[in-house]
Amino acid sequence: MLVGMTYDLQQDYLAAGYDRDEVAELDSPVTVEAVKAALLSQGHDVELIGGAGPLVRALADGRRWDLVFNFAEGMLGLAREAQVPALLDAWDIPYTFSGPEVLALSLHKGWTNAVLRAHDVPTADFRIVNSMDEVEKIDLPFPLFVKPVAEGSSKGVSDKSLVRDRQALRGICEHVLRTYRQPALVETFLPGREFTVGILGSGRECRVLGVMEVLATARGDACAYTYANKQEWRERALYELATDGPAEQAAEVARAAWQALGCLDAGRVDVRLDERGEARFIEVNPLAGLNPESSDLPILCGKIGLEYAELIRGIMDSAMRRAENRAPRTRT
Ligand SMILES: Nc1ncnc2c1ncn2[C@@H]1O[C@H](COP(=O)(O)OP(=O)(O)OP(=O)(O)O)[C@@H](O)[C@H]1O
Ligand SMILES: [Mg+2]
Repeated sequence: MLVGMTYDLQQDYLAAGYDRDEVAELDSPVTVEAVKAALLSQGHDVELIGGAGPLVRALADGRRWDLVFNFAEGMLGLAREAQVPALLDAWDIPYTFSGPEVLALSLHKGWTNAVLRAHDVPTADFRIVNSMDEVEKIDLPFPLFVKPVAEGSSKGVSDKSLVRDRQALRGICEHVLRTYRQPALVETFLPGREFTVGILGSGRECRVLGVMEVLATARGDACAYTYANKQEWRERALYELATDGPAEQAAEVARAAWQALGCLDAGRVDVRLDERGEARFIEVNPLAGLNPESSDLPILCGKIGLEYAELIRGIMDSAMRRAENRAPRTRT
C-alpha cells in the first residue's frame, strides 16, 4: 500500500521566521523518520509529503495515496489541525486519526469542555475570557488555573497559571490574550494527581492502553505539568504507570470523553483529580505527539511493553478498517 505522510516540521517554520515558542507543537525529523521506518517495516511504500502547503501542491499535481498517515499540527488559525484532514476528505483519500470536525473542536478546550459536559463527562468549572473586561465578571472561586484556549505542548502553562486572587488573574489573562492572541480559558484549579491515558482505537471500539501518572521531580514545577517540565522532562518530570482506583476512574473519564467526541485511531486524554479526589477531564489529544523518545504516548507504550512499531501498526489497522468500510463513491 502507498502511504503518504503529512506532518509539520519545526525546522521549516523556524527557517520561515517563526520563533521557538511558536513551533513548540510541531515535529522533528526524528519523529517523521520513526513513523516512516515503522511503516516500511510493515511492508508499505512511503512517500513524505509535509504540511498543508505541500499537500495542496501534490494534490494539484495529481499525486494520490492509498492512505495518508496524518499528524500535521498546522500553524495558522484555531482550525489548524483540521486543515489537512479537510483537504484529504475533499479528495476522498483515507487518513489516520480524527476528522477535521473533531480536530477543530478539540483544539478549543473551552468548547470541548462544553460538549463533554453535555455528555455528562466531568470537567473543571470554566469560563472563556475573550477580552479584559470579562475578567471582572468571573464568578468562580479561587484558586483558578489559566491557559490559552487552543494550544498544546503546555504552551502558555507555567507556575503563573495557578492564580489565587483577582489581581493575579488579571495579569495572567492579559498575558495570554496578548501573547497568544486568542481567548484565555479560566478553570477551577484541580489540585490532585494527574494522569495521561493512552487510547487505541476509534469511538466505541477504543481500548485504554494504560494510565500514566505525571509527577514533578524536586526541580520541576509542582503545581502542574508546565511548559518547562515538558521541555526538560528528563530533569523535571516523572512518569509512572498507575493501576489503582483513581487511575481506573481516570481511565473511565478518558474513555467516556474519547467516545463522546468520536475520536479515531489513537491518542491521549489528560485527567486530574479535583479537591474531592474525583477524576475530571482536562483535555484530549487526538493528534498525540509521536516522538519515540520524548512524547507521552510512546513513553506510556514503552512502559506497558508495546513497541513503537506496534503502536504505529495499531493506528494503521484502525485507519485501514475505516477506509475499507467507507461508503462506495459514485464517480463520473
Ligand atoms: N484546571 C486545571 N487544574 C490544574 N491543572 C491544570 C488544569 N488545566 C491544565 N492543568 C495543568 O496544565 C497542564 C497543561 O494543560 P493542558 O493539558 O490543557 O495543555 P496542553 O498544552 O494541551 O497539553 P499537551 O502537552 O498534553 O498537549 C496539564 O497537564 C496540567 O498539569
Ligand atoms: Mg495536556
